[in-house]
Amino acid sequence: MEDDLAGIRVNALAEIEKTDTPEAVENLRTRYLGRKGILTVILRSLKDLSPEDKKKIGMKANKLQEEITALFDTRAGNLQKTLRESILEKEWVDITRPGIRLEKGHLHPITKITREMIEIFSQLGFEVVEGPEVETEYYNFDALNIPEHHPAREMWDTFWLRSNYEIPISKSKPQKKSERLLLRTHTSPVQIRYMETHNPPLRIVVPGRVYRYEATDASHDIQFHQLECLMVDKSASIASLKAIINEFFSRLFTKRVTIRLRPSYFPFTEPSVEIDISCLSCKGNGCSICKKTGWVELAGAGMVHPNVFKAVGYNPQDVSGFAFGMAIDRLALMKYNIPDIRLLRSGDLRFLSQF
Ligand code: FA5
Repeated sequence: MEDDLAGIRVNALAEIEKTDTPEAVENLRTRYLGRKGILTVILRSLKDLSPEDKKKIGMKANKLQEEITALFDTRAGNLQKTLRESILEKEWVDITRPGIRLEKGHLHPITKITREMIEIFSQLGFEVVEGPEVETEYYNFDALNIPEHHPAREMWDTFWLRSNYEIPISKSKPQKKSERLLLRTHTSPVQIRYMETHNPPLRIVVPGRVYRYEATDASHDIQFHQLECLMVDKSASIASLKAIINEFFSRLFTKRVTIRLRPSYFPFTEPSVEIDISCLSCKGNGCSICKKTGWVELAGAGMVHPNVFKAVGYNPQDVSGFAFGMAIDRLALMKYNIPDIRLLRSGDLRFLSQF
């Protein structure tokens, strides 16, 4: 048995030396010192020896157990340390190296000014409503008192879409009609959509993108943004329209702005006016935005036409209302001193990163 112990020692030392991971050390430890381990079996069999041998061989076996336990511990400790060091080496980061600067995005000037406009109108008691950009002929024209073949349709150069749309043409006129689709030329159709489903009194603003099939210049684009405003109650008047407009401009530009109302024509308002403000870009001296007139046309407006009220099922005798559609892009030109409306959609970062 003494020879056995000597053989076990030689083998154990050689095998421990060969282990290369902490797991391998633990497996080997089980093989020698586990419940059925090589050395454990010998220690258990000591009981069958004579008292003399038991004492002599027992001492040697216990010593060997202590020795290889210590060797296992040392080997496991060393391998753990090496492993930790190699992980650290792999994950080492040079924290003194300069980082990569992240490009920070920011809001587009149209988004900025639209949010400001909405904020002002909310403070004045208006609710924000939205509507679809792909619109039916009925909402964009017919319901706004612009029937087919009416010359007023020429006022809006329209992007027509190819497909027709089978719909109940409106909630108040539920019969089905095959409708031509278009990209809305103004935000006024949302007036109809809202009044069809709500009763007066009401105050809404509708910000959104609109499209016109027309030549572009410094103040005209084929795609721009309007903010529609509609107020309907029993006593809305041109005077209340003017008061709201004045209040709005003085809050947006934080100074008094000269406005003028010019008589105009829209089929869905009567009387109709055009709202101009004195050009803030050139302080009225004349520039590309105001086409050297000193005035910038910002909105069409007027008192809601009785036929529009009839189209949504209101009795024109019971209600009165004003509405206007304001060009958000042109306001942005003046607020941020931008010389050409086309820059807004250019996607040019040299321009956009200035805001
Ligand atoms: C309309 O679009 C009417 N829906 C406005 C309205 C609403 C009138 C409610 C009455 C009641 P108009 O086509 O004039 O109207 O357009 C309104 C404003 O949009 C104009 O005053 C002008 O400032 C701006 N605008 C018109 N065409 C362009 C364009 N191509 N590019 C940029 N802004 C434009």
